[in-house]
Amino acid sequence: MKRSKRFEVLENRPIHQDGFVKPWPEVGLVAMESSLDPVPSIKVENGRVVEMDGKRREEFDMIDSFIADYAIKLDNAENVAAMDSTEIARKICDINVPRDEVLKITLSMTPAKINEVVCKMSVLEIMMGLTKMRARKTPSNQAHATNLRDNTVEIAADAAEASFRGFDEEETTVGIARYAPMNAIGVLVGAQTGRPGVLTQCSVEEATELAMGMRGFTTYAETVSVYGTEQVFMDGDDTPYSKAFLASCYASRGLKMRFTSGTGSEVQMGFAEGKSMLYLEARCIFITKGAGSQGIQNGSVSCCGVPAGVPSGVRAMAAENLIATLLDLECASSNDQSFTHSDLRRSARTLMQFVPGTDFICSGYSSVPNYDNMFAGSNWDAEDFDDWLVIQRDLKLDGGLRPVKEDDVIKIRNKAAKACQAVFRGLGLPAITDEEVEAATYAHGSKDIPERNVNEDLKAIEEMMAGDTSGIDIIKALYDGGFPDVAEAVFNMQKQKVAGDYLHTAAILDKNFHVISAVNEPNDYHGPQTGYQMTEERLNEINDIPWAVNPEDY
Ligand code: 5AD
Ligand code: CA
Repeated sequence: MKRSKRFEVLENRPIHQDGFVKPWPEVGLVAMESSLDPVPSIKVENGRVVEMDGKRREEFDMIDSFIADYAIKLDNAENVAAMDSTEIARKICDINVPRDEVLKITLSMTPAKINEVVCKMSVLEIMMGLTKMRARKTPSNQAHATNLRDNTVEIAADAAEASFRGFDEEETTVGIARYAPMNAIGVLVGAQTGRPGVLTQCSVEEATELAMGMRGFTTYAETVSVYGTEQVFMDGDDTPYSKAFLASCYASRGLKMRFTSGTGSEVQMGFAEGKSMLYLEARCIFITKGAGSQGIQNGSVSCCGVPAGVPSGVRAMAAENLIATLLDLECASSNDQSFTHSDLRRSARTLMQFVPGTDFICSGYSSVPNYDNMFAGSNWDAEDFDDWLVIQRDLKLDGGLRPVKEDDVIKIRNKAAKACQAVFRGLGLPAITDEEVEAATYAHGSKDIPERNVNEDLKAIEEMMAGDTSGIDIIKALYDGGFPDVAEAVFNMQKQKVAGDYLHTAAILDKNFHVISAVNEPNDYHGPQTGYQMTEERLNEINDIPWAVNPEDY
């Protein structure tokens, strides 16, 4: 066939490197609105659910039982089940219906009902819902700070820069599992250097993560995964009950935590039971609620490529964020995984959360170049910082970041690298050389950093973890090493675990360690000029990109 030049050009566009499939509902390869999803229903007898979403209690699997027993407010449940789903969808996006009134309905729903309701909504209506229903009034953003070599001094410098740029939470993870404690210390020290009060975590296997939290190396946990079918849960040797137990472990030690789930995980693991991705995700969010977690990281997250391959996939990701808010949970709304080769498409995907604002618009904006992102690449990375700033300025939206000056960033990275050097000295870890400090100060990524002796690092980490090194030792090392302000910030983070106020829904801390949460700053949006409004100071900050031309310079 003689080729059209137009079609040849189109085929060479980045979007054609993405994978697309036609829906296949029988195996769960459908994002939302599947005809195979259960029809909503509930029957309550003597305060106990005897039927839910078309199944009698005798037929319940463990997920159904857990949800029926712990996740639904039963007093109003039968009335809500009888309400028209389109009417409820209209209330969710109607500015005249207050958030609290919506919650009275949605907290008494079943998973199939909430699925049916959000399926009635366009993305614009979902965004209206998100802006009203998100828990915390002020939107925020979360960063990743990782690198290919698990280089801790580089993690500290990147974490400091990320804090300074405005992120309120930062997470790291590992290339080599045994590096976890060192990386956790790096992100903690760096984050507190860049801006006191930033929460940090290290995403690894659950026992290690809990142990690091209890020692005071981290200040929150996030990747407590839940799934929407029994078989996928069992594959990970878990149940909703074991996850609820883990949630309580964190709470008992005063550590903030949230669950993680997202559309696509069940079909990716081959056990979707012929249900839509969104219906199964609704079950995950109900499990989260039932387990008593204050929040969830969802929006497909690491499975983003799966819903993105079918129609309405990106809409489903926004819908699952909305469901989290409808259950009165904190929502860290993904935008944290590369899923497309197209810059246009990755921006369009993010506008669904950027425009309404969520508790964390990205639950992992890569504060490092994508080659260093050990969460398998993010939708946004360090090379997009200036684009993000311009989008905030263009739309008069608070996306959590602020313009910064090069010399300030160099200073803060240098201070964090030196603080990390002092901590390594104090804890008896293999020395960070002045050459490494210098490289981390000016680096873009780990390619700019000298290699460390990995075996020596791992041996030292093993010895440290065999002893009782804790956050207190980090504080002492910082103080003795000449960083009293960073020592005090790390100390204040430990004190938060005793006070416990940052366990409230959607809590973050400001630079004076004041908690900002859904309890003391609940979202009160009800139309134009209400809800979160930028202060004049904040507006000037986001508008003032250093590379804009001054009137005086014309
Ligand atoms: N469902 C459940 N857990 C997920 N994670 C990421 N995406 C999902 C999902 N769709 C969790 C996993 C992973 C970490 C980065 O977040 O635990 O290791
Ligand atoms: Ca995250």
